[in-house]
Amino acid sequence: MPDLTTSLGPLRLKNPVVTASGTFGFGSEWADFYDLGRLGGLTTKAVTVLPRRGNAMPRTTETASGMLNAIGLQNPGLEAFLAEKLPYLRQFDTAIIVNIAADRIEDFVTLAQRLDGQPGVAALEVNISCPNQACGGLEFGVDPALTAQVIGAVRAATSLPMIAKLTPNVTRIADIARSAVDAGADALSLVNTYVGTAIDARTRRFKIANRQAGLSGPCIKPLALLAVWRVAQAVKAPILGMGGIMNATDAVEFMLAGASAVAIGTANFINPMAAVEIVDGIERYLSQTGATSVQEIIGAVQPTL
Ligand SMILES: Cc1cc2nc3c(=O)[nH]c(=O)nc-3n(C[C@H](O)[C@H](O)[C@H](O)COP(=O)(O)O)c2cc1C
Repeated sequence: MPDLTTSLGPLRLKNPVVTASGTFGFGSEWADFYDLGRLGGLTTKAVTVLPRRGNAMPRTTETASGMLNAIGLQNPGLEAFLAEKLPYLRQFDTAIIVNIAADRIEDFVTLAQRLDGQPGVAALEVNISCPNQACGGLEFGVDPALTAQVIGAVRAATSLPMIAKLTPNVTRIADIARSAVDAGADALSLVNTYVGTAIDARTRRFKIANRQAGLSGPCIKPLALLAVWRVAQAVKAPILGMGGIMNATDAVEFMLAGASAVAIGTANFINPMAAVEIVDGIERYLSQTGATSVQEIIGAVQPTL
């Protein structure tokens, strides 16, 4: 049996498959389908300091080979997460990665301090694709200096493993990656969704109330794969790769591009078993290709002859 263990800096994973934030709720809906302990890790929906109701409906629509969403960070808030969601999640033998979001650096710090030392929290994933109130709504993650500020502040507030989640809606993602790592990120996750929208020709209305939405699913895979490869060339920090991974072959491609682990997002909506099927599929791929460990394929892509 090939060794499936991997790590994202100080965060050890029993296998390289985790669920992507916002596509797996707080786990309970999937626990009817399989033992969540089969996952390498589980990333929660974004948690904010206060509860959020999210954006007006409609908030999702299907596209060619993907979907658009503008959920707007709906979640029960930090205290309800600690009181109700975390006690449920910590019973599973898997790494619980808490995705945190805020529109002020102070709130990121509050989240990081309060989550530090909570039993069952394995790591924080800092969602820097959020608009920063102090900068007129500019997203933290589109600017290297703002990225460094927020990641540095979270670093100072917690000793938990910290993963910076990068937005792909930038000109040079490697610059943002370097900034996050220099400011203390242990690992990077990428990509978040690509901005897009959809209009209905029949009704002449936007299909999403918020108008701007995030595109995910197989349609973004080639873009995400390139982003992962570019960042892997630019920094030494381990990468949690995601964007349109639907099956084990896709997952292996992200690992060949340089990801130490992969996250499964939109695929969970199509096939609730996707993440565990991908764990099994990666194991099969390794066995069939004579690899003894998942480490052998990380970054192992070769130039075309
Ligand atoms: C409905 C939905 C909600 C999401 N919510 C979050 C979120 O709360 N925080 C976050 O960092 N990313 C969020 N994402 C982005 C995903 O975690 C992931 O980065 C993205 O969807 C790309 O992966 P995929 O193509 O496999 O879905 C969300 C994505 C979807 C589809």
